[in-house]
Amino acid sequence: MLMSATAAALLLLQQAPAEGTDWDAEFGVEAKERDPVTGELPVDPYDQSNANAGAVPYAGTALAAAFGGRDGIQRIAARTVELSEADPRIAAIFASHDTVRLKRTLSEQFCYLLAAGCDYTGRDMRSAHDGMGVTKADMNALVENLQAAMREAGVPFAAQNRLLAKLAPMSKNVVER
Ligand code: HEM
Repeated sequence: MLMSATAAALLLLQQAPAEGTDWDAEFGVEAKERDPVTGELPVDPYDQSNANAGAVPYAGTALAAAFGGRDGIQRIAARTVELSEADPRIAAIFASHDTVRLKRTLSEQFCYLLAAGCDYTGRDMRSAHDGMGVTKADMNALVENLQAAMREAGVPFAAQNRLLAKLAPMSKNVVER
């Protein structure tokens, strides 16, 4: 049955949503806000523990010194993330995550493992990468970026390899396909 133009207009008016509808709520989209101090996005609660770092730390202070101490490690972790954000092979993975937080927690993980005086406050490796769909090729790209960051910082090759040796066994909890 055909509707008159007036009836159709009335129907449209009835269905028109209220002015100022909260579309985020209607679509179930929850906007996360960055912490005004740290610039980080909130994460779901989890138990904090150094055990989440995925390995036990080295002993002694020589290795930390080879990385330039806490500051050097912090720069290397940040540089690894920056290289990865700019790396067309894996940039998309990083674009949809909080790299402000990642720079901090990755630095804590390296600093903890190298016995440079940090605690690791991030999530365990399986939960942190759950559902990210990381491939072996993605892992290779990230390791290359970490190696480039360590090389740029002048970390001796043997010391570079000691960090990699701690991280390598974690790939089974990160690579999903
Ligand atoms: C053995 C290798 C790896 C280690 C040791 C590692 C370490 C970490 C650490 C410590 C975090 C922080 C967790 C937190 O803040 O709670 C993290 C998160 C993350 N990792 Fe990895 N990662 C590895 C491999 C990879 C690879 C291959 C990719 C992608 C190419 C990747 C992408 C990410 C991203 C995007 C996050 C942020 C997750 C979020 O906050 O939502 N990781 N990783």
